[in-house]
This record gives sequence, structure tokens and C-alpha cells, in this order.
Amino acid sequence: MPFLADRMGRAKPSAIMMIADKAKQLKAEGKDVISFSVGVPNFLPAKHVYQAAAESLENDSGQYLSGRGEDILVEAYLTRLEANGFTGFNKSNIASGIGAKHVLFSLLYALLNEGDELIFPVPYWTTYQDIADLIGVDAKTLLCPSEQNYKLTPQQLENAITDKTKVFLFNNPSNPTGMVYTEEEVRAIGDVLEKHDIWIISDDIYNRMVFDNLGFHHLWKTNPALRDRIIMIDSISKSYGMPGWRVGMMAGPEPVASAMVTLNSNSITNIPGVVGAAASAAIAGPQDFADEMCIEFSRKRDEVMQTMELLKGIICPKPQGAFYAFPDISSVFGKRYQGVPINNDVDFAEKLLEAKGVAVVPGSAFGESRAIRISYACKPNDLTEGLKRFSEFVNEIG
Ligand SMILES: Cc1ncc(COP(=O)(O)O)c(C=O)c1O
Repeated sequence: MPFLADRMGRAKPSAIMMIADKAKQLKAEGKDVISFSVGVPNFLPAKHVYQAAAESLENDSGQYLSGRGEDILVEAYLTRLEANGFTGFNKSNIASGIGAKHVLFSLLYALLNEGDELIFPVPYWTTYQDIADLIGVDAKTLLCPSEQNYKLTPQQLENAITDKTKVFLFNNPSNPTGMVYTEEEVRAIGDVLEKHDIWIISDDIYNRMVFDNLGFHHLWKTNPALRDRIIMIDSISKSYGMPGWRVGMMAGPEPVASAMVTLNSNSITNIPGVVGAAASAAIAGPQDFADEMCIEFSRKRDEVMQTMELLKGIICPKPQGAFYAFPDISSVFGKRYQGVPINNDVDFAEKLLEAKGVAVVPGSAFGESRAIRISYACKPNDLTEGLKRFSEFVNEIG
């Protein structure tokens, strides 16, 4: 049989999806499993979203459509950007894809040559590293441990940028840590970036999920000098409870948007009309639910923190956005659970799932093997029960 391409030797399935699948499988076998693994919000899209999808079907939307995104979707996104203070964009600055994951894949494909360097902080969303591996670029990862609240410092960034660096990838609020950068922190990072002529991809998909009145601060606003190098990414997956509908958007310089449209025309062709119609309805519709969502997530965050604070040796920097917590569990490494050694994050996650039926993602999936990720966007009762079992597990490690 002929060989697969070399690049497939570098490709691996998403670690997060593998854990989620394992949890699903155990559930299907009748096991009592609580999943803190996958980043899926626990709410459904609003009624008007389904209505828009139904109308689109009735209007025969199943045709080939625009590779940029139909005007209704592009207009909805432009209006939302403007309402959030991102002004001056027009249609030529916008492109869409099959989820933010696909948008990011296309952007990195379009911006980086093989051997170019892409830099981003650790912990990172797993897919950043996976895409870099697939397209053959060097990912320079900047370790931001729990001691520095998992946040990148301006000095780290300054020290890391070289002549080879072409793209800086910034995710705020962060998956997997839930950290949110303050305005001063964003500006300080922007000040470093002003000195270096590199692209900036800002993965903003959790921008509506910020707690504690911290506000969502963006390099585009703190450092206007960077505007012609910033590409912003957004998604309907988390904000509107639509992860499987698969729509992601980008806003940025016109040549970048048009490169994405070219890639779309040679790969996906277009977002399906019914999906685009539903996404536009979500983006253009009432946004007041976002406040309620933040209240619910911050309450759940508090519940997670109450548990973590009572657990000796577990260090959990307080998340202020998204719906993830990223406790550092390394103090239990070398100890035993019912005689079985827990030597790393994978041992911890596997034993926790086996013994207590709680699924979490090992931190090594995010480049930080001293931690595990808890996604707390589950049903409230599951959260309470899962945290109870998590505490029992940690307390039983001796
Ligand atoms: C930081 C980050 N960026 C991008 C994505 C991809 O989102 P989408 O579902 O739109 O592909 C995710 C999904 O978990 C994410 O956490």
C-alpha cells in the first residue's frame, strides 16, 4: 500500500476529544460518569436561531454560496464588532469558516511558511500545537506556570521574539486556564509587539465570558498602532450554545481575509446556508443572555474555587473568564491512590475517571503536565457531585 504524507506522521487526534469519547463510552456502558472534559456550554441556542434555520431551509438555502460568508452573516458580525467598539471594518476585512478551529487552521496556513516560527503561551489550547505540527511550522511555546497565574509577561514575550518569528497567538480569556488579562497587562504585551513586525492572531472566542467586572480588553484598543497586524477570531460555539453548528469568523487586514476566502474556495467552498442563517440570527439577535451566562458561570467558578481552596496542595489560580479551571495537582505526584502510584497528570486523570467516574483533561494536552483541566459548564447538580467526588479522590491519595 502507498504511504500517507509525511505530515500525517506529525498529526494526532485531539486529546480532549479522546477523553470526552472515553467518558461517553463509559456512560453508554451504564457507568455513573460526570464529564468535566469537553468545553461545551450547558445551554441551547435561542428560539429565533432555530426559526432562522427553518426559514432558510424553506427558502432553498442548500445551494453553493459565498466563500466569505453570505452577506447576512458578514453584516451581522460587522454590526456586532461595531457595537463592541471595533469600528472601521467592512466586508473585505471579514471571512468565515467551519468553526474557529478551521479559521485558525486556514490563517496559520495562509500566514506561515514551513520553518517559520509561531509563538504562544503555555498552557495553550491543544489545537494550536496540533495545527503547527500539521503544517510544519516551529511552535515556540512560552511557559507560564501557576506561580505567574498562567499569564504571559511582557519580558517573556520580548525575550522570545526572533527574526524567525512571524506570528504571535494570543488567547484571552484563556482555554484551559480561564485567566483574563487586565487592561494594563494587555497594553504591556502590546507595547512589546509594537517593537516587532509580526502578525498577531487574537483568539477571542471567550470574549463574552468575563467575570468580576474585569472587562474584556483587546490589543486592537490598547495599542492602536498594531491594528494593521491584528487578526481577530470569534465563534458561535461557546457564546451562543452552538458548538456543533460550526461557524467561526475572522476580522483583520483585507489581504488576510481574502487569503481565507481563497482557501475556502479550494476546500470547504462555503458555510452551509442553513448554518450561516442560524449563526447570523444568533450574532444579530438579542445579546442580553450573555450577562445571565456570566452570572451563572461565575457562580460555578466560585463553587469550583471553594472546593479547590479546601484541598491541601492543590493550587488553582482563580479563573475570571470562560468556563475552565486549571488546578496544579503536581503536589500529589509520587503518592499513591489505593496502592497505585500517581506519577503524572495522565495517571491522575485516568485514576479519577476509573475510581470516581469524573472525567477531566490531563494538562499535558495543553502543554502543562503539572495540572488538569476542569470544564465547569455542566449541569449544576453534576458540578456539585463531580466536585464532591474530586475532593474525595484527592483526599484519599496518600
Ligand atoms: C481557545 C479556543 N479557540 C478556538 C476554539 C474552536 O472553537 P470552534 O468550536 O469555533 O471551532 C476553541 C474550542 O474549544 C477554543 O477553546
